Amino acid sequence: MITGRPLFSEEQIQAKVKQLASRISEDYNGKDLLAVGILKGAFMFFSDIVRHVDIPMTLDFIIASSYVKTETSGEIKIHYDVKGDISDRHVLLIEDIVDTGVTLNQIRERILSRTPKSLKICSFLDKKERRLTDVPLDYVGFVIPNEFVVGYGLDYDNKFRNLPYISVFKKKMY
Ligand code: IMP
Ligand code: MG
Repeated sequence: MITGRPLFSEEQIQAKVKQLASRISEDYNGKDLLAVGILKGAFMFFSDIVRHVDIPMTLDFIIASSYVKTETSGEIKIHYDVKGDISDRHVLLIEDIVDTGVTLNQIRERILSRTPKSLKICSFLDKKERRLTDVPLDYVGFVIPNEFVVGYGLDYDNKFRNLPYISVFKKKMY
């Protein structure tokens, strides 16, 4: 087993997912919901959330990557984008973590330019103190301190995404 300092256990995560999913189910009851997972990071959170949302919905994805060297300039590359007309859809973006906010802010602007009926954001983790760009978050799993975390979809060098829990990354894990 890979160790590091565990921050949130599988049980804690699953309890939080159920709470968030039930709020989402209530808030979107009777609305045409389009849940959009931001890959790769959100794959596990997204699949856990959507299987606990008990209203009809459709799913899509955005595959985005940020250029490591221009972290604060906010240049992102979109490899796959939400398909079709979204002007009659209530879009819910589902993200793994908001750090500086630069990535999510750009994705948010792109979606808004396509004039959805509404746009809300659900992020599993919120590293609040690192924020450079304000992004409105409607559903948040956990607010975390400024530490690099891995697991539950989050990676270091594309590894550790498969862990069912969140760990504070330590170089010795690598
Ligand atoms: P932002 O644009 O600075 O908000 O960056 C957000 C992206 O950086 C996330 O979607 C993650 O891919 C990555 N990221 C930020 N903090 C962490 C972390 O602690 N662990 C793993 N990835 C992180
Ligand atoms: Mg991400």
